[in-house]
Amino acid sequence: MRPISRRRTLQLGGLGVAGTVVGGAGLAQQLGSRATSVAASTGVPLREPQVLRSSDGELRVTLQAAEQRLEVAGASATVLGYNDGLPGPTLHVRPGDVLRVRLQNRLARATNLHVHGLVVSPEGNGDNVFVSVDPGESFDYAYRLPDDHPPGTYWYHPHLHGSVADQVFAGLYGAIVVADGGEVAVPSARERVLVVSDITLDGGGRVRSVSAMDRMAGREGELVLVNGQARPVLSARPGERERWRVVNACTSRYLRLAVDGQPLSLLAVDSGRLTPRDVDDVVLAPGNRADLLVAASTNTVLRTLPVDRGTPMMGAGGGVTSPEEVLARLEVSGGAVDDPAPVPPQPEPRDLRGADVAARRELVFSMGMGGMGGGMSFAIDGREFDADRVDQAPAAGTVEEWTLTNTSPMNHPVHLHVWPMQVVSGAAGDEAEPTWRDVVDVPARSRVQVRIAFDGFTGRTVYHCHVLDHEDAGMMGVVEVG
Ligand code: C2O
Ligand code: CU
Ligand code: CU
Repeated sequence: MRPISRRRTLQLGGLGVAGTVVGGAGLAQQLGSRATSVAASTGVPLREPQVLRSSDGELRVTLQAAEQRLEVAGASATVLGYNDGLPGPTLHVRPGDVLRVRLQNRLARATNLHVHGLVVSPEGNGDNVFVSVDPGESFDYAYRLPDDHPPGTYWYHPHLHGSVADQVFAGLYGAIVVADGGEVAVPSARERVLVVSDITLDGGGRVRSVSAMDRMAGREGELVLVNGQARPVLSARPGERERWRVVNACTSRYLRLAVDGQPLSLLAVDSGRLTPRDVDDVVLAPGNRADLLVAASTNTVLRTLPVDRGTPMMGAGGGVTSPEEVLARLEVSGGAVDDPAPVPPQPEPRDLRGADVAARRELVFSMGMGGMGGGMSFAIDGREFDADRVDQAPAAGTVEEWTLTNTSPMNHPVHLHVWPMQVVSGAAGDEAEPTWRDVVDVPARSRVQVRIAFDGFTGRTVYHCHVLDHEDAGMMGVVEVG
């Protein structure tokens, strides 16, 4: 085990003290007033969403979006969910497959579906966010994954402009796994999907509505959930290698994942696969995913460390920090197993740093007074989202460099559909291995450069801030590739 790090010092200085005790009593204490229902569920084994796997090149599923009474954090709650769960089922597919989803809308309001991060067509009944499915209606989506689709962890959620934050916050999300090909498969004892989300429930177990201030800052729920549970327990035997596919499905919360007392071996973020490397922690903005290898050696805790997201109102004190929380516990017991086989070398990722750049664009993300209803406005290049306007029109088959400029005092995690982005400025631009993301955090008052290869598909889709409250407020634009 590694020496006690900076992290440990942090915990001992703050509210983490109880967290390091890891006993039921310690947890209950730390949870304070909302302890009753939550404490009852701590110590329960991790539950995983139902897994639906493709066969013969196809996965056909029906996702029914509906309000339902479910167990959330150990207590009964009225939430939104796909099928019978929060999260919805995990969709397991392979490169080259067709994923067919019948979305049935049993909600009181319109919805739709987005497959976040999948490299698929945005047109027709593909990953088309301009589709709207009315209450009582259904829609048949078909997503054809190319044969060279990057393996990795992806996810699905509604994308109907204006109600995305409310619907995701209330429970509509699920994971998608694109399996490794045989040659890159990582030997591990156990693979787990950990969908991290947050929600706030009132005394009656209903999702609490949020204030205008919450929307401006980007709401964070009082409960942080892993697969709908509070602080579940993962059990392993000494020496086992666990592979955790973590999805940040929170509406606005940033995660800074760390395992107490040991490094994380980082295999991928989004579709960006790496030769695994040891890191102390990994930051996931809303929408990002991480593929982590964790060596089970001793009982420990998966936590998220504080992340500063800036200040919503210029000059008005009080920044927004996604706070520290214990997410799950790893309990190691039983007979030791042999060391796992080494991770095979991963294929060299594409690198656009030497590519010919056909066009350079700057996109300016801003916040200002005078938004709709007199609140804060959220804009890109001074304009709020308009589905009928094309904001960027790259030529198919070209590589572009986009400078994402954030003039506001808050961070904005910038997401582009269909085409992954390679971060080429700052520390990431100097890495030996290219840094690929589909959500790129752009800190307050800073800029990040990315390169994008607009190949594979043509069509119209969106880019936006993945603090979903900001997206709903207008921080989204349309890109049409043709
Ligand atoms: Cu995860 Cu456009 O969304
Ligand atoms: Cu997306
Ligand atoms: Cu934002």
